[in-house]
Amino acid sequence: MKLMIAPSILSADFGCLALELKKVEKAGADLIHVDVMDGHFVPNITIGPVVVKYMRKATKLDLDVHLMIENPAKYVDAFVKAGSDMITVHIETISPRGLADIARKLKNRGIKLGISLNPSTPIARVKNVLNIVDFVLVMSVNPGFGGQAFIPQAVNKIRQLRAIFKKDIAVDGGINNLTAEQVKEAGANILVAGSYIFGAKNVQDAINSLRRGDLK
Ligand code: DX5
Ligand code: ZN
Repeated sequence: MKLMIAPSILSADFGCLALELKKVEKAGADLIHVDVMDGHFVPNITIGPVVVKYMRKATKLDLDVHLMIENPAKYVDAFVKAGSDMITVHIETISPRGLADIARKLKNRGIKLGISLNPSTPIARVKNVLNIVDFVLVMSVNPGFGGQAFIPQAVNKIRQLRAIFKKDIAVDGGINNLTAEQVKEAGANILVAGSYIFGAKNVQDAINSLRRGDLK
């Protein structure tokens, strides 16, 4: 299972997004994590498809689009068209049938589907959709903002999920060199990190420090 580091552009300087993308690309990032927020599902508003479209032109890396929005089904087509390579929706925002429709659509286009769950949502909630998703994104903070503290209960959730799920497990929120060790040990293999990477003096050192240590 490949360990992948996904810098979250939420903590980048949006005034020079293309440069920020190049910076993490050069420093060895595997994916670019794109946080889409609508001010309804979460108390913050960020970016929409138009920004994703121009990010697509500015980096060769896959764009991992995290939809923290109330009605993901309505907007999936727009994010597909904008050039997303991976799209994650929240289990709190969709029915199993709605998710199956999205899964079919993305599969036809070779785009990976992720399901995400908030810290207060138990693993049991995603069990019946694990067979139709490519990865699970475990939230280790309440979604909405970068720079929050890691919620330690996420470690057990990852461990619980790893016991029943053999595909990629991503973790998002409060990841730094210390929490990275814990989540890797529990079985996560995609590490999303915003403030730890973009706030670092040396972005390459920050990315390397997330890679160190053994992956289960
Ligand atoms: C939180 C977002 C995260 C966030 C992570 O709502 O989904 O992707 O950018 O930021 P850090 O790594 O700073 O916690
Ligand atoms: Zn995110």
